[in-house]
Amino acid sequence: MSVELTTRDDCAVLMLNRPEALNALSVAILRQIDAAFEEVAKSRARALIITGAGNKAFCAGADIKEFRNQAMLASKARTELGQATFAKLDRLPIASIAVLNGYAFGGGLELALASTFRLALPNAKLGQPEIKLGTIPGYGGTQRLPRLIGEARAMELILTGRTVDAHEAERIGLVNRIVEGDAVAAGLAFAREFTGYSLPVLAFARAAVQRALDLPLQEGLKVEADLSTLSFQTKDAAEGAAAFMEKRQARFVDA
Ligand code: CAA
Repeated sequence: MSVELTTRDDCAVLMLNRPEALNALSVAILRQIDAAFEEVAKSRARALIITGAGNKAFCAGADIKEFRNQAMLASKARTELGQATFAKLDRLPIASIAVLNGYAFGGGLELALASTFRLALPNAKLGQPEIKLGTIPGYGGTQRLPRLIGEARAMELILTGRTVDAHEAERIGLVNRIVEGDAVAAGLAFAREFTGYSLPVLAFARAAVQRALDLPLQEGLKVEADLSTLSFQTKDAAEGAAAFMEKRQARFVDA
């Protein structure tokens, strides 16, 4: 299998496993990723960690050898498959963490952009180099990159195709932080910062923040009021306040 889905602690780990092609995304691999997301959605995992096999690449993008000379309709179908697959990350009930352990180019960076969080190992190199191939990002990059780092920076990266190193990526907010050591271990350590909290309440928080980017402020505030009110109806909100009063650690039950 070119994509491996395993469980570590209480997290799902998705490993892109095609190191001989720098984990490039063929259509077959996109379908495997899509199936893996479906499986994660049904699992008991509290976070999803995504990384690449080998020490050179997270993912070098769409498979250039495969899409070269592709007919227009096949190209459109591939692009829509990539977009639909990565959109499933947004809709997962749990947060996802892409750990960039080397090149994250083109579709590889777009997979990371669709994840909730991005961590970079010091050797990470990020970019949308499609312009050098005479094309443009097709798996969400033109839409998610400006939402994450602003229009001017996104426009620069997409129009010049230039590569950003881990430090610049952290400085411009393209990655949350730089991490050292083993990619999966770093992802698990980051996940532990939030997986102990109530899963439904984490989902409310994520949904509210996600809506901030596509709603006018007043509409977004209404969404926040509704989701905040819902969170107060959970057993976990009652437990959180009780634990505060009793000066003890909260014991959340995901309800
Ligand atoms: N597709 C298919 N194969 C790829 C690939 C890709 N995106 N990226 C790397 N490979 C293959 C290479 O062809 C090579 O295979 P062979 O040994 O059979 O020749 C193998 O992986 C190792 O790659 P390199 O020898 O090139 O490794 P390098 O260290 O010299 O260079 C690199 C690394 C700078 C990442 C270089 O491989 C590269 O530029 N890759 C292409 C990156 C790119 O342009 N990505 C965007 C693709 S388009 C896209 O993703 C569109 C979209 O929005 C969905």
